[in-house]
Amino acid sequence: MGVPKRDLKGFGTPIKYPSAGRAVVPSPSLFIEPVAPMAATPSNSNPRDIVRQYLDQAWRPQHLSADQAGALRQRIIRLLERENAVMVAHYYTDPSLQALAEETGGFVGDSLEMARFGNRHPAQTLVVCGVRFMGETAKILSPEKRVLMPTLEATCSLDIGCPVDQFSAFCDAHPERTVVVYANTSAAVKARADWVVTSSIALAVVEHLMDEGKTILWAPDKHLGDYIQRRTGADMLMWDGSCIVHEEFKARGLLSLKAVHPEAAILAHPESPAPVLDIADFIGSTSQIINAAKTRPERQFIVATDQGIFYKLQQTVPDKEFIIAPTAGEGATCRSCANCPWMGMNSLENLAEALEHGASEITVPPELARRALIPLERMLSFPRP
Ligand code: 13P
Ligand code: SF4
Repeated sequence: MGVPKRDLKGFGTPIKYPSAGRAVVPSPSLFIEPVAPMAATPSNSNPRDIVRQYLDQAWRPQHLSADQAGALRQRIIRLLERENAVMVAHYYTDPSLQALAEETGGFVGDSLEMARFGNRHPAQTLVVCGVRFMGETAKILSPEKRVLMPTLEATCSLDIGCPVDQFSAFCDAHPERTVVVYANTSAAVKARADWVVTSSIALAVVEHLMDEGKTILWAPDKHLGDYIQRRTGADMLMWDGSCIVHEEFKARGLLSLKAVHPEAAILAHPESPAPVLDIADFIGSTSQIINAAKTRPERQFIVATDQGIFYKLQQTVPDKEFIIAPTAGEGATCRSCANCPWMGMNSLENLAEALEHGASEITVPPELARRALIPLERMLSFPRP
């Protein structure tokens, strides 16, 4: 099959990140010139337009010299000790943050593992490097701890696209259904739910609810919901939300790339659209993708998720090769192509500032936290699939 050049532009080149412990030189694509800080919440109420306006206004870290990064790392190490704090980072954050979390006794993982680690760790302060829902989850699970984030502006298109008032009205209209929400939601939306799930356990929880004869109201990610619905046959009523990063992966581009790398297996996050998932060899959460890369026999992988994960993939399986899945098509901004703009707001600079001044502290109103804790505890006590 002929491979159209257009589909492969910029893709097909394996990424190489240095392993933790050496100087980290992140991919240039993780650094975009800074623009003005985010103004007030955009007034337009169309979720896609709201996301675009956020992206246009979002602050991005500047590229640091090796000396600047080294000095910041030393400052953060001192501050973590001074504040009795531990870093909890997601795989999509900048490699410099992932490396530092591991070197300082912190943790890097998927969103469920981050919640578990933060809940168990004895440190008085958790510094959550990721997006806002991860910080809120940590605070709800451990209200006695101080939870800081490098920036409170780091949100998620799924969270933005599921405002609590509209979501509550949706739930009120279907009182007979069990409400299952993805972790990528606000504390207020979680407080309205019966269950919270992450991508690593969503399938198992829905199977469990089906066994109990329940019908489901699912929010907000329609792609993940559709994937679960097709796998289980569950009766699911869906909210119309999506991840702007995963939504831009295209099956056509993937097939073209696969034609160039026929031996490669396709690993995809379930936030990707159905045509992508239909051709994937493995579908799972970020941690499950890393584990699949380790255990599967293939030597080469095309990876359909945020490119921050390549750092850990290469650290975990240095002898295998990883290729970014192509993104293209209508609506692609290429500020979001395989690169979550909100995860990219976490930097060494704002992490140091948060620790130094106690800024960007997560607070959740106690009554809201009390209600959101119920479905979150169900998630944590659900047996690992
Ligand atoms: P994981 O739970 O797989 O880490 O996913 C979180 C996320 O935001 C994916 O976009
Ligand atoms: Fe949200 Fe998508 Fe970013 Fe994950 S990658 S935090 S789902 S916008």
